[in-house]
Amino acid sequence: MTSAGDNLQLANKMDSGSKVDFKAKVAIVTGASSGIGEAVALDLARRGVTVAAVARRAERLRMTVERCQRSSPGSFAVVADVSLRADSDRVIAEVLQRSGQVDILVNNAGIALHRHVIETAVEDVERVIQTNYLGAVYMTSGVLHSMIERHLGSIVNITSVAGHLPLPQEAAYCASKAALSAWTQSIAIDLAGTGVHIGELSPGPIGTEIWQKASVDYGRRLYPPQVVAAAVVRMLEEHRTYMTVPRRFGAPGAIYPLLGRPMRWGIRSFAEAGMPKTISESRSAIMRRH
Ligand SMILES: NC(=O)c1ccc[n+]([C@@H]2O[C@H](COP(=O)([O-])OP(=O)(O)OC[C@H]3O[C@@H](n4cnc5c(N)ncnc54)[C@H](OP(=O)(O)O)[C@@H]3O)[C@@H](O)[C@H]2O)c1
Repeated sequence: MTSAGDNLQLANKMDSGSKVDFKAKVAIVTGASSGIGEAVALDLARRGVTVAAVARRAERLRMTVERCQRSSPGSFAVVADVSLRADSDRVIAEVLQRSGQVDILVNNAGIALHRHVIETAVEDVERVIQTNYLGAVYMTSGVLHSMIERHLGSIVNITSVAGHLPLPQEAAYCASKAALSAWTQSIAIDLAGTGVHIGELSPGPIGTEIWQKASVDYGRRLYPPQVVAAAVVRMLEEHRTYMTVPRRFGAPGAIYPLLGRPMRWGIRSFAEAGMPKTISESRSAIMRRH
């Protein structure tokens, strides 16, 4: 059993770049029933982490957990909707009751909304913000105090390059990820010296179900979710505050504040060339109606 002082020393050592011993750690991974969350859960389980896998689809979650249990037998599922505060609180209570601690939280659960602003209801925006942003807020707030008391813990929030760049027909999604990004970066400052790490992992285009759910044909290269899982591990090991994967997808967001006007033109042309149906069809439908 280590004391809080030992933990703080260990955390400071980890800040200077040493590797984490994942064995005996307990991680909550939200959105673990598919895609990136599933890959993160499997990667952590393979390293000996007890994974509490969270999502709404019980059957898909059961399949992820069965695979996690092959390398980490204590892993389990908690079926929950993170956009509901009561569900998020229940997840944390159940994990603490079953495992006694939360060492790692990966806020990954998210939904997409690909829709022109004219066709977007306020309720749609609320749903996206509630899931992608407030879901992470509920989960983080639920684990933070015990992590600070132990001077130990890591939180990785999965944002998106869409949170750093405007994208056509993605206003609600971009806003939800921008909120999560700003929230994470500010908390990282608040947590300095506490031994608790928080960071933002901003993926580029990853081949998951999210594209089908949003009816978007990206039409370009999609990277496997395992690249994001590997980056999560790196963030946990090195206590990184910000990473983009693949790395080059961070560049447009970094230069956008300087080159907004030409970039908006470029983004529109790029999107129209790559997704001719979704963008031009809905634009003509809107023009016909107005
Ligand atoms: N794929 C990409 O290109 C990409 C790029 C940048 C960022 N991201 C982000 O990566 C994260 C994972 O997405 P993905 O690409 O892996 O897509 P995905 O396969 O659709 O996974 C989304 C996961 O979130 C869960 N989820 C959604 N709403 C939830 C809720 N209210 N409560 C609990 N779980 C919920 C889903 O499970 P249930 O439906 O079973 O609840 C699913 O497990 C998202 O935050 C997404 O915004 C993805």
